[in-house]
Amino acid sequence: MKVLVIGGGAREHALCRSLSLDPDVSALYCAPGNAGIAEVAELRPVDALDGDAVAALATELGAGLVVVGPEAPLVAGVADAVRAAGIPVFGPSAEAAQLEGSKAFAKDVMAAAGVPTARSYVCTTPEEVDAALDAFGAPYVVKDDGLAAGKGVVVTEDLAAARAHALGCDRVVIEEYLDGPEVSLFAITDGVTVVPLQPAQDFKRALDGDQGPNTGGMGAYSPLPWADPKLVDEVMELVLQPTVDELRRRGTPFSGLLYAGLAITSRGTRVIEFNARFGDPETQVVLARLRTPLASVLLNAANGTLDTGAPLVWREDAAVTVVIASHNYPETPRTGDPIEGLAEVAAEDAPDAYVLHAGTRREGDAIVSAGGRVLSVTATGSDLAQAREKAYKAVARIRLDGSQHRTDIAAKAAGHS
Ligand code: AMP
Ligand code: GLY
Repeated sequence: MKVLVIGGGAREHALCRSLSLDPDVSALYCAPGNAGIAEVAELRPVDALDGDAVAALATELGAGLVVVGPEAPLVAGVADAVRAAGIPVFGPSAEAAQLEGSKAFAKDVMAAAGVPTARSYVCTTPEEVDAALDAFGAPYVVKDDGLAAGKGVVVTEDLAAARAHALGCDRVVIEEYLDGPEVSLFAITDGVTVVPLQPAQDFKRALDGDQGPNTGGMGAYSPLPWADPKLVDEVMELVLQPTVDELRRRGTPFSGLLYAGLAITSRGTRVIEFNARFGDPETQVVLARLRTPLASVLLNAANGTLDTGAPLVWREDAAVTVVIASHNYPETPRTGDPIEGLAEVAAEDAPDAYVLHAGTRREGDAIVSAGGRVLSVTATGSDLAQAREKAYKAVARIRLDGSQHRTDIAAKAAGHS
């Protein structure tokens, strides 16, 4: 099978890495890709937001499966265009992707499906904003209704800051603060059958100790030794299956990857957000642990035949990924800095540790930074402590001027077992 992956971040590098190891995949393409993905897939230039261009490229390549990585093309209807061209596509329609594209839509679906989430108000005027902030009190949770690459959410004790963020959005969701640790649980679905993956935890804040601003994610690990072993079953029953059923009932079935961002609160598990695609950086650790070849699972989801697949098989290994971000991320990341040490990781640390590229590009013989999150250094080990040690050993070999990374990814969880 020929597979075309759309996107060019570390998530797509992780997807391409897994697909490149799958004996069913005869040719692998990525558009637009990045400097690291070029080592496992043939890159093609494309405007990832242009459905017709993506469908034409898939047709030209003879792709038997298209996998759409990021949310923006999904919300723009790229999966619809590929599907209309008669090519199986892993990724939801624009309508179903509203689960991520609009926080207000997601709240409406959850209310209809009886899915537990934070109480919330959708506000469009300063009066509504003030009333909602007053109703919930501090800490304030203020979310831009539209897509914001993980940066549209402000959680703060500061009323003035909460108000300022809310007034800067056209439509804003203000909601109850959820305490407790966060879990990301992904499920692959064809719109009817739902197959959960292994849970992971992301680190959203920029700095150690969960300080600093929210980012797209600074690291992740899986499994979660501290979590209730019944967590996946519970989320399947309370969240994932009812959400998939509700979208089908509305005539907009969701096929692709349903990402539940959860808070494990003192009053039970609550949904913080849905995403309509694989999470980044959680995908890096989840796929590192998946033994089942990926292509047929994604193809079954695309074709509506997920119920025919064998149960997924997982490695016992733990996985940790640490994101290396550029100077000034997430505000105004500096790009164009040379990255060194990649060959040393490949020579000294592989196959247990490896570097997945996010914002990188080739400039002559050099690889330079080209985005906020630059690399996702991933490692597996017999437990989290070992995976963590290997990941940080590899991180230490990478040289990127002004770069930043968290030093505490999976630290607490590694000490748990
Ligand atoms: P979201 O984009 O909705 O996932 O929000 C980004 C981050 O903001 C989440 O991962 C949480 O860390 C935090 N957050 C969002 N909603 C809440 C909430 N209701 N209570 C506490 N923290 C939240
Ligand atoms: N890791 C957060 C996200 O993918 O949205």
